[in-house]
Amino acid sequence: MDIKAVSAQIDADIQEINSLEALEQFRLKYLGRKGLVAELTSAIPGLPQEERARFGQEVNALKNKLLSLIAEKQKTLAGSSGQAAQAAGDLGMPGISQSLGQLHPLTQVTDEICAIFNRMGFSIVEGPEIESEYNNFTGLNIPLEHPSREAFDTFYLKNYTKMLLRSHTSPVQVRQMKEQKPPLAIVVPGRVYRPDAVDAAHSFMFHQIEGFMVDTGIKFSDLKGILEMFAQAVFGNDIKMRFRPHFFPFTEPSAEVDISCIICKGKGCSVCGRKGWLEILGSGMIHPNVFKHVGIDADKYTGFAFGLGIERIAMLKYGINDIRLFFENDLRFLRQF
Ligand code: DAH
Repeated sequence: MDIKAVSAQIDADIQEINSLEALEQFRLKYLGRKGLVAELTSAIPGLPQEERARFGQEVNALKNKLLSLIAEKQKTLAGSSGQAAQAAGDLGMPGISQSLGQLHPLTQVTDEICAIFNRMGFSIVEGPEIESEYNNFTGLNIPLEHPSREAFDTFYLKNYTKMLLRSHTSPVQVRQMKEQKPPLAIVVPGRVYRPDAVDAAHSFMFHQIEGFMVDTGIKFSDLKGILEMFAQAVFGNDIKMRFRPHFFPFTEPSAEVDISCIICKGKGCSVCGRKGWLEILGSGMIHPNVFKHVGIDADKYTGFAFGLGIERIAMLKYGINDIRLFFENDLRFLRQF
């Protein structure tokens, strides 16, 4: 067989090819198991001794030429139009997803609450998690004999006397009131620590938001109005609030604040323990002794303060029944928010 003629035929054939199917046909015709190259190869042993080597080389060259022509053609076809995608891979195959990160549900709720207060004119401030005993207790009018002063209720630092992991965000009140002059309107998000045994409702570390406002003529009704705006912004406009008298050393009078149960709307269910109300925060009018500690004139200024647990709000908002879920880093939980 005339190898030169075959080679010319190949050059002509390849010009005609404009699809991957046609290219496959071409490949089978020449390089397939019953293709021309196989046929030529099988003819070699029957050739006269002196022709075999030369013919073998020519067949080999032909084969290499075919391989490079096919590879080249495949590239041009892959580079053009619709068949490009086909050549690049299976379009039906699931894609490689780019999973975007997201904010932790507690961060989302913290941001949401801070934004609500920010819109009402509050600045957002942070304070250190390692705090002095003075700021955490004494400055807040929590006397030495108060039960929460005992080491049992607070993580004290071993090598530093009178330093501890803050048990609430209230010490930032002391810091800010010392640092700045009224009028003040501040919210303070952050971590707090208590040596509680961990269970569905307790964690040794959790998050709070402290809020306070100090100026001339601040009244308890200002506290009520601001907290109602907050509760309705988070839980909806039909939420009702009630203030129950309570004791906190750093406020007088003090109140715990409940919202009408978001599940049963006040009728009584298992979430609210049949009460129809859910406790969400502590609050009150800043105690004159706190003003005395920070050097604010209690005859001139009044103020309110409140403190809420972020986990509690997030659990109510999303119907989460175990606080540990926030801290286990289980993506099946976290991805739902
Ligand atoms: N610090 C309190 C706690 O951790 C919460 C609190 C109650 C903060 C009343 C306040 C307040 O500012 O007025 O339990």
